[in-house]
Amino acid sequence: MSQPKIRRIAVCTGGGDAPGLNAVIRAVVIAALNRGWECYGIRDGFNGILFPERYEDGGVLRLTKERVRGITHLGGTILGTTNRGNPLHYPLRMPDGTIKDVDRTDEIIEYFAKKELDALVSIGGDGSLTIANVLCQKGLRVVGVPKTIDNDLDKTATTFGFDSAVSFATECLDRLHSTAESHQRVMVVEVMGRYAGWIALNAGISGGAHAVLIPEIPYNLEKVAALVRDRDNEGRMYSIVCVAEGAKANGENNALVAKAEVGQAERLGGIGERVARELQELTGKEARCVVLGHLLRGGSPTSFDRLAALRFGTAAVRALDEGFSGVMVALAHPNVNYVPLEEVAGRMKNVPLDCDTLQTARDLGIIFGD
Ligand code: F6P
Repeated sequence: MSQPKIRRIAVCTGGGDAPGLNAVIRAVVIAALNRGWECYGIRDGFNGILFPERYEDGGVLRLTKERVRGITHLGGTILGTTNRGNPLHYPLRMPDGTIKDVDRTDEIIEYFAKKELDALVSIGGDGSLTIANVLCQKGLRVVGVPKTIDNDLDKTATTFGFDSAVSFATECLDRLHSTAESHQRVMVVEVMGRYAGWIALNAGISGGAHAVLIPEIPYNLEKVAALVRDRDNEGRMYSIVCVAEGAKANGENNALVAKAEVGQAERLGGIGERVARELQELTGKEARCVVLGHLLRGGSPTSFDRLAALRFGTAAVRALDEGFSGVMVALAHPNVNYVPLEEVAGRMKNVPLDCDTLQTARDLGIIFGD
């Protein structure tokens, strides 16, 4: 592929944060510097470019070896991130007070040209990779890195951040067994994941939940209540239910929304409380809900996520060096490969109903309420 030589690249982190972001940033910076390239970090998604006046450093900062030293194990992102103000659909307030949806991606393209930035490494989930794909179609050299605790991105075996979220949720489930048993309660644990049930499924199995409710399998709560009663009859006086925030009862079309704002992704939440309340009514047993929420996004990445993040970051730089653009680095065990952004953007990876993890759960006696 004959592309002009790269001298300067930029990196950005968009969407909800996930453990491993800093490890990717460090990997990108070190691999770029080792090739003699300069590396720059854009603040808060693309806000550093769209709103430079908000930043003392101008919104885009030079990333040196010193700047990324000792950050591999740190949660969050040193660049900041946002899941507001998607440049493809930027909500602009007009003089008459109305809100107009505008596409501001041309401003990003112009910025790259003006600053002689040759390429972008965009670290993000579906939203960020969709933006990256559009920027690529407009002529920017772009490589995407798949991030999300939800693991709902297609064409990669896993995203970084997912393992850390599952590990923490598993630890929480472990801790809830003893208190649930001591009090003979039903404990309902709500986990993030948006419209996919990966976190609930993997943590539910690993943490010994008795029922797992996921968006892919609409549930009938009477089935879960029956399980609770059966366990009681067998002398196991407590039950643990792991619920994905996007889980739906039979016959419901939409997940429970905690908050909806114009121009924003809907905020899911509330299903755990509802399941606990209804299970208490159905079984007569005390049922309590714990919402893990953003705790799943914080903290140090697991070694799996660190390694994945470091592999993804360096692979993104190799991809650019090899002349690739419009691709996302992806995990295809045992290797990292490149897949077209077009095949990832706007697609969601749900839990396949025939996957072996689901079968594992069923064979272990975990129920899904179907
Ligand atoms: O996509 C990651 C995620 O943590 C989802 O699991 C969750 O639904 C959403 O982000 C929450 O976003 P926010 O931090 O904006 O509430």
